[in-house]
Amino acid sequence: MSTQSNAPTDRPPVTLPRLAEMKHNGEPIVMVTAYDFPSARVAEEGGVDIVLVGDTAAMVVLGYDATTPVGMDEMVTMAAAVRRGLRTPLLVGDLPFGSYESSNEHAIESAQRFVREAGCDAVKLERGGVSVERARAIASSGIPVMGHVGLTPQSASALGGFKTQGRTAESAAQIARDASALQAAGCFAIVFEAVPAAVADALMPHIEVPVIGIGAGLATDGQVLVFHDLLGINTGPHSPRFVKRYAEIHDRMVEGVRAYADEVRARRFPDAEHVYSVDPAEVEELKRYLDTESLTTAPWDW
Ligand code: KIV
Repeated sequence: MSTQSNAPTDRPPVTLPRLAEMKHNGEPIVMVTAYDFPSARVAEEGGVDIVLVGDTAAMVVLGYDATTPVGMDEMVTMAAAVRRGLRTPLLVGDLPFGSYESSNEHAIESAQRFVREAGCDAVKLERGGVSVERARAIASSGIPVMGHVGLTPQSASALGGFKTQGRTAESAAQIARDASALQAAGCFAIVFEAVPAAVADALMPHIEVPVIGIGAGLATDGQVLVFHDLLGINTGPHSPRFVKRYAEIHDRMVEGVRAYADEVRARRFPDAEHVYSVDPAEVEELKRYLDTESLTTAPWDW
């Protein structure tokens, strides 16, 4: 078995210069989402480099069928919980739909909430277009920003659904222009989502900042997966092609809850090791009280 070279105590906190260095050295960057304290602990102990409190929370934690319903208050609450469980990875808060599009001021205000209220190190926003201006404003205000191009779930309706992007030279070129504009606006890294591997491969030499792929093949500088997808916490018929499951936690959890329910119904739980003891004399005294006094009489009135 390998020694725990990535154990939390061995690693200095991941910084933006460290990510740039990783890209430069060709060291793959590992990113995962997290939405609460226990998932943050798992990410920390699992030795990842970046944790994203993604707006996928709307789908995998809150049960919506899109990312757009989650709001800033919910995102900040989740990010603060993640912060409490994290020491080493860079923590990125995902700006939810409606929290940054309308003006630079609103975008900076939302980004500041992630930093001030949740202790995030950086924020992420989606798309090119007006988001480039928002990214520039946030970065100029001193908060590191990550971009996100290709399939951008906040605009899934406009993109015709959760579909692969960049399948024509024209749409791939648009992804290239968006990524380049986000980089020029000051983004320290960019997510490529659901882009054909050959397209990501062609774009990589044109991007200087770290590129983190999800469904973009092996050429990117790192990979990101959604925590619940990679661990098989949520099961369902619509898993994207790019998801690889490294565990079947949903099944283990159902097994655990079933075993608990069976033992409760069979009166096998709780057993001796799960109950508190008491001096038998105290129980005898209690029983005398219960046999002789009305329960409306307080013990101090005895
Ligand atoms: O919200 C999210 O989880 C994301 C990742 C899929 C990159 O944006």
